[in-house]
Amino acid sequence: MQQLKKQTISSILNTKGVRKLSMITAYDALFANLFDTKVDFILVGDSLNMSFGGNSDTLSITMDQMIYHTKAVCNGAKNTFIICDMPFGTYINEDIAFNNAMKVYQETNADAIKIEGGANKAHIVKHLTDNSIAVVGHIGLMPQNVRSEGGYKIKGKDAQNIQELIEDAKAIQKAGAFCIVLEGVKPDAAKLITESVSIPIIGIGAGIDVDGQVLVWSDMLGFFDEFKPKFVRKYLDGAKIVQDSVDQYVQDISDKKFPSSEEIY
Ligand code: KIV
Repeated sequence: MQQLKKQTISSILNTKGVRKLSMITAYDALFANLFDTKVDFILVGDSLNMSFGGNSDTLSITMDQMIYHTKAVCNGAKNTFIICDMPFGTYINEDIAFNNAMKVYQETNADAIKIEGGANKAHIVKHLTDNSIAVVGHIGLMPQNVRSEGGYKIKGKDAQNIQELIEDAKAIQKAGAFCIVLEGVKPDAAKLITESVSIPIIGIGAGIDVDGQVLVWSDMLGFFDEFKPKFVRKYLDGAKIVQDSVDQYVQDISDKKFPSSEEIY
């Protein structure tokens, strides 16, 4: 079985152009433990508000909820680099961002935080990195903009937007971020953005010409089957396996086949 060493910021930076990075989300200790040492990073994504919390977008998750889940993930995956997503509204200015990021560092063992935003959030990234917080950026399709943009809009469709995304990536890099998640971007644009910076770009729905990939665990393992975004590859039919197993359990109870003589004290 494959076992990766825990990454550091310098080892992550050194992978650019050498090998592709792997990232997966996790929301609890149980799954984090299964992913521990299997991937370069685990992201405690605010997507947990949807797949774990059953909400229709990420916007209602709170800082305390993210901290609760990040603690659980850190307990489960002690040998993997862990990133905590900062919820909507928790980094609207430098002081608020620092106070919330400090809470993440004080109350969890997360290695870094992630915030959505390009050049318009560079001053926040700079304030955080100047004060010893490790920051992952997130540009392109930003799920926290779903209500203000009226939906999830694919980016990088025209030359002007591609240029804006390149400027975003450069601004976030200059502000001190060590890595950027690039979501929902046309592959040709993603390639240009990846080539424009020296920090790794981790794509999701951004094609192959990036420095690594991230997927939401419940999408890639087939547990969240309400819809399947085009960019998701389903590595397991998790929902079917679970439902078939529960059907079998109920059948065994009804047939008086469970528990057997080996399953009693
Ligand atoms: O919240 C999340 O899971 C994310 C990924 C989609 C990158 O931000």
